Amino acid sequence: MFASAAVRRVATAGRAAGSSSSAAVSSSRSAMMSSAAVKGRADLLAGVGAYGGLTDQDRIFTNLYGEQDWRLSDAQKRGDYHMTKDIMWMGPDWIVQEIKDSGLRGRGGAGFPSGLKWSFMPKESDGRPSFLVVNADESEPGTCKDREIMRKDPHKLIEGCLIAGYAMRARAAYIYIRGEYFNEAVVLDEAIHEAYAAGLIGRNACGSGYDFDVYLHRGAGAYICGEETALIESLEGRQGKPRLKPPFPAGVGLFGCPSTVTNVETVAVAPTILRRGASWFAGFGNPNNRGTKLFAISGHVKNPIVVEESMSIPLRELIEKHCGGMRNGWDTLRACIPGGSSVPVLNKTQCDEALMEFDDLRSKGSGLGTAAVTMFDNSVDMIGAIRRLSHFYKHESCGQCTPCREGTSWLEDILIRMEKGDADKREIPMLEEISRQIEGHTICALGDAAAWPVQGLLRHFRKDIEDRIDDPKSFDPEKVFQYAWSGDPFDNKEWVEKNGDDLTYKAAA
Ligand SMILES: Cc1cc2nc3c(=O)[nH]c(=O)nc-3n(C[C@H](O)[C@H](O)[C@H](O)COP(=O)(O)O)c2cc1C
Ligand code: SF4
Repeated sequence: MFASAAVRRVATAGRAAGSSSSAAVSSSRSAMMSSAAVKGRADLLAGVGAYGGLTDQDRIFTNLYGEQDWRLSDAQKRGDYHMTKDIMWMGPDWIVQEIKDSGLRGRGGAGFPSGLKWSFMPKESDGRPSFLVVNADESEPGTCKDREIMRKDPHKLIEGCLIAGYAMRARAAYIYIRGEYFNEAVVLDEAIHEAYAAGLIGRNACGSGYDFDVYLHRGAGAYICGEETALIESLEGRQGKPRLKPPFPAGVGLFGCPSTVTNVETVAVAPTILRRGASWFAGFGNPNNRGTKLFAISGHVKNPIVVEESMSIPLRELIEKHCGGMRNGWDTLRACIPGGSSVPVLNKTQCDEALMEFDDLRSKGSGLGTAAVTMFDNSVDMIGAIRRLSHFYKHESCGQCTPCREGTSWLEDILIRMEKGDADKREIPMLEEISRQIEGHTICALGDAAAWPVQGLLRHFRKDIEDRIDDPKSFDPEKVFQYAWSGDPFDNKEWVEKNGDDLTYKAAA
């Protein structure tokens, strides 16, 4: 049983440890130290970790489905803010080293090693303060994992801000949340107030002697503001247009000060990693792909869900265990976008073998990205699906770079015609060439994000385009139009009866 039992276990452990004597605290502290001292980074990251079948005890987000209250009292029962001061007193360098040893890679899309990124922040101030900037923009189509953290478990993020901020010697954290997440912003704002009132942040945060503020800033709802330098521009009150790098934010970031922009999930998992030890986190997933991860699964599955699982879990296992499978069986699977709309699509054969990790998906010409998995069955017109994504990227281009501003329009225009069969086969390589001229030739990665879905389409579904051009009459917009669900009334009663009881989610055995 996912929630109640697991939550009770964690809560009991938290309460017991919370009442421990100073001797017990110091022994836990030395246990924390020993995990770094005894196991070197190479030892930790070598060897195969466990994957698939994550147990409830090993889930970080124990209130993902909101069975308990998000407020501070319940969060503390779940173990949040347990020994935060002691963790901080281990020092910033120890925290950074533990995060390095855990193998945590950024959960915002690029998968950059988090400990290494945090270590780029200056150790000595040149007079400027340093800032942690939390990226809660979450606008990538299909991605909705950070939302669950912020509305159901906001204190995990707030405690993470304090610990990550302290590790970076930052004075404050700015959480930049997308404008459309209104309710999430209300919850998070309230949770920040609770944490201030309880002395967990602000002056002498958690009794650590360290002063740390947390600010919440609402964006206006533009995808490009998720790009780290556009986010900084927007926070400073300007239009969200990416900056040329260098300088990188760790040198010149928010308000001209050293800053690190990092994703909500990356920050929110940090306290649990530090409490349980780097080796615990590094025990999941294949080398270079460590830890547990939130997967946001949507599309033609029986039960779309956000679920925490081990990295490197096979895609098929993830879908069958947590989503009840494809709505009409695995054999109806046509394609999958495994990491948010920017990563190239996989075909069925690749899906059969895919592991949900950075390296395996990269070797298949795609990527883990944000781990937002969109499943497509054979009712989907793949040309139309990618055409729709091209429209999104055209709409969201900030317009600074010519290849992105012009190229994204061209991609969409050509795909609109190809979808109807109103194109020449000679335009297929032209479409590829346009995508290659955008990729890698722009200020920010939105250009790549626009190019890659088209490249995936051409790699795996070129024949669909050729067939459509040969027989334009085969295009039936009514047949392939994707309604919010399938057009059928949505009823997952059967799935809930089998796998859940009211509010409580229970993974299929
Ligand atoms: C167009 C664009 C949109 C992005 N949107 C987000 C986003 O919504 N959330 C996010 O965490 N990262 C987003 N990123 C990635 C960020 O630039 C940055 O790499 C990330 O926040 C780093 O966090 P991490 O190290 O924890 O992964 C986006 C990047 C691009 C190019
Ligand atoms: S790649 Fe596109 S979104 Fe990024 S800076 Fe250039 S024009 Fe703007």
